[in-house]
Amino acid sequence: MTEMRPVTEAAAIKAPTLPDAQTVTQVKHWTDRLFSFRVTRPASLRFRSGEFVMIGLLGDNGKPLLRAYSIASPAWDEELEFYSIKVQDGPLTSKLQHIQPGNEIILRPKPVGTLVHDALLPGKRIWFFATGTGFAPFASLLREPQTYEDYDEIVITHTCREVAELEYGRQLIEQIRQDELLAELIGEGFADKIRYYPTTTREKSPRMGRITELLRDGTVFRDLGIEGGIKPETDRAMVCGSLAFNHDIKAILEDFGLTEGANSDPREFVIEKAFVG
Ligand code: A2P
Repeated sequence: MTEMRPVTEAAAIKAPTLPDAQTVTQVKHWTDRLFSFRVTRPASLRFRSGEFVMIGLLGDNGKPLLRAYSIASPAWDEELEFYSIKVQDGPLTSKLQHIQPGNEIILRPKPVGTLVHDALLPGKRIWFFATGTGFAPFASLLREPQTYEDYDEIVITHTCREVAELEYGRQLIEQIRQDELLAELIGEGFADKIRYYPTTTREKSPRMGRITELLRDGTVFRDLGIEGGIKPETDRAMVCGSLAFNHDIKAILEDFGLTEGANSDPREFVIEKAFVG
């Protein structure tokens, strides 16, 4: 009996204080509006790169306060990464932005989402269109071997207001290009398939303007040397950004002759509808 007590006490201290608790392992603040963090991964969690889960904290009323977050890490990673906006009066992110390594968050282990390879028909070139923190699912898909097995060319566009807001994506792509583990997993030279196309709208940078405008006036295709624009026979697309952005890109892709797919009905493009940041 005496021997059991310390074990029970230790277990009580270690027991998660939150339902579906995971422990924060890393936090990085990119700007006063953006941060990324990594948490432990539940042993049972299986997901497809590009999917999202519900994560959050306990609210002031003691009830879980959860939001949909795209998993920014690839399916093979032993931890989970997230990329988030900070809204100073936002119910969740006003608190979430203060997490530190060792803290716990709630993570419901039920991944879902439309930005998955299964929802697209085979193609040659895939376009990832992101604004702001909509880059997150592509941070996962750019580290997913299947992306490179399925396509000859990956164009990732990222539109943000300011240069500093591009930094998470820029550094991630730079790391991917030098990553020996990925080169081993996917094959040497895999990163040559990535075409990175960052643009800003409110601060001067080498490429300025909304990606929607740059697609409509053909600038993107001229810059990347892509003849004939986006073609339904060869081009596939995934879209993740604000509601207005998703709406506008959808119209552009449809003008190019692409149709929207789903898990149950794979086609030429997909849009993440759960994303609201
Ligand atoms: P803009 O500065 O012209 O509004 P936000 O920070 O508001 O989520 O926006 C992120 C980026 O997405 C900004 O550069 C913004 O451009 C751009 N954006 C917002 N709405 C659209 C849209 N409907 N089409 C294209 N880009 C958009």
